[in-house]
Amino acid sequence: MARLHKSILLVALMFVSFIRVSQFVAAAEGPLPPQNQRCEYLRDPMGIDVKQPRFSWVLGHTEHGQKQTAYQLLVAARPETLGQDKGDQWDSGRVPSSQSIQVVYAGKPLESGRAYYWIVRTWDTQGSASPYSLPARFEMGLLSPQEWKAQWIAGGNELRKEFAIPGRVARARAYVTALGYYELRLNGQKVGTNVLDPAWTTYEKRNLYITYDVTAQLQQGSNAVGVMLGNGWAVPPQHFGPPITTSFSSPAFLLQIEVELEGGKQLTIASDPTWKAAHGPITSDSIYDGETYDARLETPSWDLPGFDDSAWEAAQVAKAPGGVLSAQMMPPIRVIDTLVPVQMMNPRPGVYVYDMGQNFSGWAQLRARGPRGTTITLRFAELVYDDGMINRETIRRAKARDMYFLRGKDVETWEPRFTYHGFRYVELTGYPGTPSLDTLRGRLVHSAVEPTGSFAASNPTLNAIQKIIRWGQRTNLHSVPTDCDQRDERMGWMGDAHVTAEEAMLNFDMAAFYTNFVRDIRDVQGPDGTITDTVPHKYGSRPADPAWGTAYPLICWYMYEQYGDRRVLEENYDGLKKYVEFLRSKAPDNVLRYSYYGDWVAIEHTPGEFVSDAYYYYDVQVLAKIAALLGRSADAEAFKQLGEQIKEAFNREFYDAKRGVYANGTQTANTLALFLDLVPDDQRGRVTGSLTNDIVYGHDTHVTTGFIGIKYLLPLLTRSGRSDLAYDLATQTTYPSWGYMIATGATTLWELWQNKTGPSMNSHNHPMFGSVGAWFYQAVGGITPETPGYERIRIAPQIVRDLTWASATVETVRGTVSSSWIHSPGSITLDVAIPVNSTATVVIPKDPETTDVTVREGDRVVWEHGNFVPGTAGVTAASQTHDGSLTLEVGSGRYAFKLDEK
Ligand code: BGC
Repeated sequence: MARLHKSILLVALMFVSFIRVSQFVAAAEGPLPPQNQRCEYLRDPMGIDVKQPRFSWVLGHTEHGQKQTAYQLLVAARPETLGQDKGDQWDSGRVPSSQSIQVVYAGKPLESGRAYYWIVRTWDTQGSASPYSLPARFEMGLLSPQEWKAQWIAGGNELRKEFAIPGRVARARAYVTALGYYELRLNGQKVGTNVLDPAWTTYEKRNLYITYDVTAQLQQGSNAVGVMLGNGWAVPPQHFGPPITTSFSSPAFLLQIEVELEGGKQLTIASDPTWKAAHGPITSDSIYDGETYDARLETPSWDLPGFDDSAWEAAQVAKAPGGVLSAQMMPPIRVIDTLVPVQMMNPRPGVYVYDMGQNFSGWAQLRARGPRGTTITLRFAELVYDDGMINRETIRRAKARDMYFLRGKDVETWEPRFTYHGFRYVELTGYPGTPSLDTLRGRLVHSAVEPTGSFAASNPTLNAIQKIIRWGQRTNLHSVPTDCDQRDERMGWMGDAHVTAEEAMLNFDMAAFYTNFVRDIRDVQGPDGTITDTVPHKYGSRPADPAWGTAYPLICWYMYEQYGDRRVLEENYDGLKKYVEFLRSKAPDNVLRYSYYGDWVAIEHTPGEFVSDAYYYYDVQVLAKIAALLGRSADAEAFKQLGEQIKEAFNREFYDAKRGVYANGTQTANTLALFLDLVPDDQRGRVTGSLTNDIVYGHDTHVTTGFIGIKYLLPLLTRSGRSDLAYDLATQTTYPSWGYMIATGATTLWELWQNKTGPSMNSHNHPMFGSVGAWFYQAVGGITPETPGYERIRIAPQIVRDLTWASATVETVRGTVSSSWIHSPGSITLDVAIPVNSTATVVIPKDPETTDVTVREGDRVVWEHGNFVPGTAGVTAASQTHDGSLTLEVGSGRYAFKLDEK
């Protein structure tokens, strides 16, 4: 009957969808039904706890140059209500507004545990209404702490409970969280597809619970629930640095299942001391060290009703970690893909080494058959030695070893649950007989962020870099952005997090992920405003290096730019202000000097105090902008003035007027000063000259920066009219460069520019040098948001050197933005896509010497004899800029521009 209920719902949804689709088919011209609906950035989210969630949609239209002039949003408790174009929870009415993202719910209070359905329609510039969208849904989690009847329990790593359901299940939800990792099982089956769940947080401040629809997994009569527990980050392994500050002695969990029977009766099953506990087949598990699983210790059907658990012990009530329970509202960690090994080597008798062909995060799935108790060992590594044996120098003290004891008899397939590794190679020993390529599979595991960007160009080095950036970026998303995925570290290092944030937001949908991460940052903030170098874990107790702590303001700011997210600014304003006030307290003479890392992993060292002070200025500038935006004008003015004082002191302290350089004259020093507009106007030319001379003559067109300087170097060169030089650096193939890593066999980005060997060798999967990926989209593709959330877009591709074509696409919050160009002698074609409800300035570069050009869109002329030719749909104006470029003003739609020289 539970199933029947579900199918009624499905039919209802399909019926509503059918009406919508038929409307869509009927509307051949004009506004299309809104699509890609999101609630709190998520598609049909389950169990959210934002009481006034935000909605967004993407518009479609058959005409160019279209905007939304009004919208109407309906929210209902049942999909059928929407079928009658009614919203019993919220009917926004026709709201004259162009807002299509970040629309805040303003209906009846949303109730705990309830599902809601919503549709939206829009009006275009002519005032024509679109059909309604297909229905989307969202469901609330448990909104008040009083609703939690469950108790935290622990004991062993397998816990179980049987319960009876005295009727037919109409609806059931499981709410679960753990200290460490859990796997939830109902009646013999794993619930959901998340792995390594819940997300890592500062557990004593916050625990994230996950909501599952378990209607179909429960039955009238006897049921059994089983929970497997892993240590995760709660009972953390030995870390290479200072010990992890808070840790717990054992994993624990909290579970509440709410069942609604047909006829309306309610039933709650909750974790409590009546549960039974035992030690299961997982005999050890550690994120760094790996998992050991003894299949002989399995107790088949332990997660089914009727199992005899009389030998199991009573579960213990565990102390609650102490923080608040919040809904986990971000893409979960999942098995994303399965990799087939490309090669199996046999470097020594009994030792088999598998090459997965790619460095990645996850684990291996093993298939084996052999005598009971046979011990198979898998060890993971990023590299191999010349003799084919695995090289584990880069994983430092992590053991990265999984062991499996065979049950015996049939073919056994196993993969670990509570660990993950960063690796390309797997060493297999102890295998009974001769393994084959099919003995192992690679399982790619990371936070399931959707890809949103693509970039390609005619230069193969750029494409190879883009590829390793994407691999490096996604395999370092494990509920927090990590610095690396393989060694005894994998921390949310804030420096690494902010330099990669823009690149990550262009390649993947990071909105919900960073919403969560920003809250993680807020959770570690001390009463004095300080935050920590790593989040959630506190690496030591000292305040973050200013070039790391800046992740807090910068990621908030990038969220605003990319997603138009004002709420993140509002919610964090006090925290950000406290943070900047702390920095100010450390800079009585307006120079912030304290620093630990500075321009980390640089080839040429830049004084740390210089880097810290530059970020102090940056943070104050960002705060001034945020304050102004939020209408806090007194703060805005105060921060502006503080900025002026810092700038003056900065120049006094660090500018060497004789040499025309900052600090010791490194690329990073001059780049930071220029990028942040700290350089007096009359010195800009000189400092830029110093920088480009250093690159070209000082280092034969190579970089010397660490991961701080490189974030800004190429964008700065582009801004200074030197995209050619930026391109030379990006496509360099000798040391130090990205191309050098690739030529040396990198499949993910390295931690160092150097290819060090020996015991001090560093990680081969550190995403931070991937910050250059933002330059690919923003400069080569030329796509930037001119106003937050891409309402106004700038498309200004840099057509440089031997590059003959490039193509970039970004799925923004407002829809697809793309820019693809081809350059051939005497002509440039530029294909552009601008979402409905956005406008763009499109800049077609042209040689300033050539005066007479014609620009066409399709077969219509838009520019001829130095004049704009009106009449092309969507193209509202065109002009020539002082550097000779042609600037077109366009509305939404797809355009195929072609510029021809006479
Ligand atoms: C990490 C870096 C991090 C740094 C701080 C390293 O161990 O891997 O990427 O930012 O420490 O200096």
